[in-house]
Formats: sequence, structure tokens, C-alpha cells
Amino acid sequence: MQTTAIAHSNIALLKYWGKQDGPGNRPATPSLSITLDALTTTTTVEDAHADALRLNGCAIRDAKIERTLAEWRRDCAIGPLAISSRNNFPTAAGLASSASGFAALATAIDAHCGLRLSAGERSAMARRGSASAARSIHGGFVALAAPNWRGAQVLAPDAWPLAVVVAITASEPKAVSSTAGMERSKATSPYFGAWTEAASADFEILKAAITHRDFDALAELAEASCLKMHALMLSSRPPLIYWHGATVECLRTLRELRAGGCRVFGTVDAGPQVKAVCERQDVEQVEAALQDVPGVESTLRSGLGGGARVTDS
Ligand code: DP6
Repeated sequence: MQTTAIAHSNIALLKYWGKQDGPGNRPATPSLSITLDALTTTTTVEDAHADALRLNGCAIRDAKIERTLAEWRRDCAIGPLAISSRNNFPTAAGLASSASGFAALATAIDAHCGLRLSAGERSAMARRGSASAARSIHGGFVALAAPNWRGAQVLAPDAWPLAVVVAITASEPKAVSSTAGMERSKATSPYFGAWTEAASADFEILKAAITHRDFDALAELAEASCLKMHALMLSSRPPLIYWHGATVECLRTLRELRAGGCRVFGTVDAGPQVKAVCERQDVEQVEAALQDVPGVESTLRSGLGGGARVTDS
């Protein structure tokens, strides 16, 4: 018997960077994201004699997945599983493959093993693997915040149907994982205290911009959150420089477009890709401008997507 689930990647508008001490993989700061319909992980699980993992058709070992499965098994009856997962986008290159990956895996295992979890419980389960995965359980605009650190939908995808253009400037996996990078920032960046102190206020303001569908406020706040997170990364020791030259050039291009009246802003995670968030009528102009930036290898376009779901059982 096999069970297959699909989950979409998400990108943070308000960034999570840094964890609380102690178990449970709880973020140090709240975050807000949008779920992307075009970037997916499809995961199939089936009973096996021993755990086995395939990613994009290749047998692999993955310490993070093995550790997460061991944690889940402390709370739930989950037997040995053959897991096969496929991403339709570059893995571990700053496109949130761990978010869609753990959301799809938690959703497939919940259904396969008859755990009967609520969406909130599944989100907490996914968070143990990767905190951003807690957000991919839901579609549209999603918050991940205290006290329970479970994702919650703020707006459905069709309530404010923004578009996203991803500019891929390199497709190889990143040198320092998000988990290791945020630990380094917490331990060494002189700005980490200021980042956590401002987080609750930043969250409330950005959430209000979303509920009021105020694009200009969203653009300013999301861009500020991204650049603040990269200031933490750059001020870590040794520094975390995820950007390439083309990353900066894409951000500059998007700011110029916005100054000319186009409703767009850029955001960058722990990798060199730039995600441009815009209103739907501007998506062609935005994609054409990013394709013209030297160093951009390709672009992909997405709308906002739904939550993780079982497709076949
Ligand atoms: C820069 O969720 O990948 O994308 O919980 O350690 O697995 P772990 O980290 P992860 O970090 C995501 C960091 C980010 C910002 C964000 O998505 O909020």
C-alpha cells in the first residue's frame, strides 16, 4: 500500500532566522509567508522492512530526515518506510525545498499511518523537520507565531492573488544550510538581539498589510525584513554571503521597476535566487526585466498555491 502527498514550497515575506533554545525546533521569531503553486514536492511512502529514502530518483541518506523520523516516532506509531520524494525545482538552492519536503512527508505519513492529525498538529509535526515546513501545510498567506508555533492561514490564495517570478542565478546546492547558518548568526552576529526584539512588532505590522491588502506597505516591510536578515547573515562570523552579483542586480532592477510605478518587490532567502512578488498584471514586465539581468540562468513564474494534501492513497 502506498500513499502520496503533494506540498508547495513557500517564501517568507517576514523572515524566520534563528531558533529558540531547547527541543521542538521553535523559531526565535515569528514569520509570514506565501505558498507557491508552481514549486512542489511530491512524496510517496510505503511500508518497508527498513527505512529507505529516494530523492529525485536517487537513493540517498539524509541526517535531517533520519533525525526527524526518529523524533516523530517518539510520539506516533510510524513503522519502517520506503520514502520517495521528487521536487520539480532545484533542491537546497534557496527555494525552500525543505519546507515543501517536510510538509509533504508529514502529510503522507499522517495519512499512511492513520495518525488522524489536524492541520495544526500536522504543521507542528512538519516544523520538527524544518520550521518553514510548518507554513507549507497551509495555502495562501500563512503565519507561524507564538505561542503554539503552528502555521495558520491569514488569507486564502484567491483573496489576494499575487504573482511571483523566481530568478534562478545558480542551481547548485548552497554551501551553508539554513539550520547551520542561523545557528551561526545567533552565536556571532552583534545584531541578533535587535532582530528578535523587533520581531513581534514587525510581525503585527506586516500581518496588517496583508489583511488590508496594502501592496505598498507589504513591499516596504517585506523588503526590509529580507535585508535585515541578510544584515544578520553578513555580520555573522565567518560571514554568510548567500548572494551572487546577479542577486544584487536583480534586487536593484526590481527597485527601479517599483520606482517607475510597477507594483513589485524582491526577497531573497538562504541562497542566491531572487523572488519577485508582484501584482498579476505586472508579471510579464517583471519576468522580462529579470530575464535581461546578466547572470540570471532562468526564471519561473508562480501564483499562490494551496496547502499540502494527499493525492493518492
Ligand atoms: C531564510 O526552515 O530551512 O528561508 O528550521 O532549520 O530547517 P530549519 O530552517 P528553514 O529556514 C528557512 C529560512 C529562510 C527564511 C524563512 O523561510 O522564513
